[in-house]
Amino acid sequence: MKILAFAASLRSGSYNHKLVDVAAEIARKHGANVEIANFHEFTMPLYDGDLNDEIGLPAGAVALQRRIERADAMMIATPEYNYSISGVLKNAFDWVSRARPMPWRGKSIYLMSASPSSMGGIRGLWQTRVPFEGCGALVFPDMFALANAHKAFKAFDDRGQLIEPSAHENLERQIAGFLLMAEALVPVCGKAATGAAHKRQKEVVAALEDQSSVQPPPP
Ligand SMILES: Cc1cc2nc3c(=O)[nH]c(=O)nc-3n(C[C@H](O)[C@H](O)[C@H](O)COP(=O)(O)O)c2cc1C
Repeated sequence: MKILAFAASLRSGSYNHKLVDVAAEIARKHGANVEIANFHEFTMPLYDGDLNDEIGLPAGAVALQRRIERADAMMIATPEYNYSISGVLKNAFDWVSRARPMPWRGKSIYLMSASPSSMGGIRGLWQTRVPFEGCGALVFPDMFALANAHKAFKAFDDRGQLIEPSAHENLERQIAGFLLMAEALVPVCGKAATGAAHKRQKEVVAALEDQSSVQPPPP
């Protein structure tokens, strides 16, 4: 199971980066092959329909598209900005949503957030689900919001654990469940399906395409 993991923050000391590191270690412990991407790899302009018509997708969006295409599933940690989805993530999402086929369609996604606030970013996560689910990704029902993130991590050279054992156990329980779901869905929705699973995959994708009224027709 190949997982693409990234934090949708450009900040060098990002708590969401730290959370992705912890989550990746847990997923590896459970047998997943996790690749961590840095969001700086995906630098792109603000979405501009004229630019889209002119050049298609900018290089940063294509880089993200390709990384998603190579993965079976994704783990994303994102800050909550003003009670909602981070603009950095939404902008990248909007660009990549113009690719056909949409690379995350039928792929499982696990959402996390880290914030110094006592809410941990959970309000933003609920809003982050919407575009992913609207565009056919399969978002794991449980999400992880890490409150008081400035106090939540062990020392830098002791990565891989959260200070609070119950939070770490909760994260591990959710990731174990997510990996089971993602693995179960790969033969149905993943790109590697063959035979009957391939036929079923096409049916599921066609049904998702038909039922999605938010998605504009292909260019
Ligand atoms: C523009 C802006 C809006 C923010 N809004 C919220 C918010 O609504 N809720 C929250 O918990 N934290 C909010 N924060 C604080 C972020 O959670 C905090 O900056 C966090 O460290 C960002 O994630 P990072 O550490 O991964 O970069 C906001 C920060 C910024 C810069």
